[in-house]
Amino acid sequence: MSVHTSVKRTTVPQLMACKGQRKIAALTAHNAAIARLIDPLLDFILVGDSTAMVAYGHPDTLSITVEQMAAHGQAVVRSTAQACVVVDMPFGSYQESPELAFRNAARILSVSGAAAVKLEGGQALASTVAFLVQRGIPVMAHVGLMPQYVNTMGGFRAQGMNDESAARILADARAHEAAGAFAVVLEGIAEPLARQITEALAIPTIGIGASPACDGQVLVTEDLLGLSERAPRFAKRYADIGGAVRQAVAAYADEVRNGVFPDESHCFGIKKSL
Ligand code: KIV
Repeated sequence: MSVHTSVKRTTVPQLMACKGQRKIAALTAHNAAIARLIDPLLDFILVGDSTAMVAYGHPDTLSITVEQMAAHGQAVVRSTAQACVVVDMPFGSYQESPELAFRNAARILSVSGAAAVKLEGGQALASTVAFLVQRGIPVMAHVGLMPQYVNTMGGFRAQGMNDESAARILADARAHEAAGAFAVVLEGIAEPLARQITEALAIPTIGIGASPACDGQVLVTEDLLGLSERAPRFAKRYADIGGAVRQAVAAYADEVRNGVFPDESHCFGIKKSL
């Protein structure tokens, strides 16, 4: 079902214009039901490659494909009308060459109808960001803790904890800005570095586990709603939807087993023959 409304969808330039004016609020979504609920409340919705973990039960984000990301992006775009939608480029879809990145980013945007892609990487990926931006694809960069690098990092660890690593992350963010990225996600870094990067850049920084110093925040929606098996320390749980689901399903199973559900009000009437 498509959504018809006179409210205009937030654009990439409008997100950029928030810098220094007001904080940007964002969450992830990968399906229509959640996207529809969160759409009017947020500036952008990220169809993150964390979909691999929260929707498919993978241990990390590496196993999701371009076609899956495009399909989840399409579900989110189709069921929203207000928030800008950004879709993650999955592992292996952009690292090899700018040309491959363009083909996959174009596929994701044309199938999903999203406004922009996000990709993880340091300075080595800046030329790819420039290649995409110069060809009409808005790019949100992602530096610091980059979950697609879980195997080289040896786990999900906070980054930038010594001077050398902090300087590298600052240089990564600067390189993406110079390449034309419209925003940068800062994940898993300490407040002084997040503040330094946010002050150094003219484009918005979006934090996840990166302190309130950032220009905006994003979280995985399942972590915020109490639907994740294990949420990271930096995520705040605002509701226990997991508990509500367990309670509702236990009540349903109990009523089915005791013959309480369905009752007359849930049954079709039988037409009496004359
Ligand atoms: O995949 C994801 O969900 C992300 C985070 C920044 C939220 O990249």
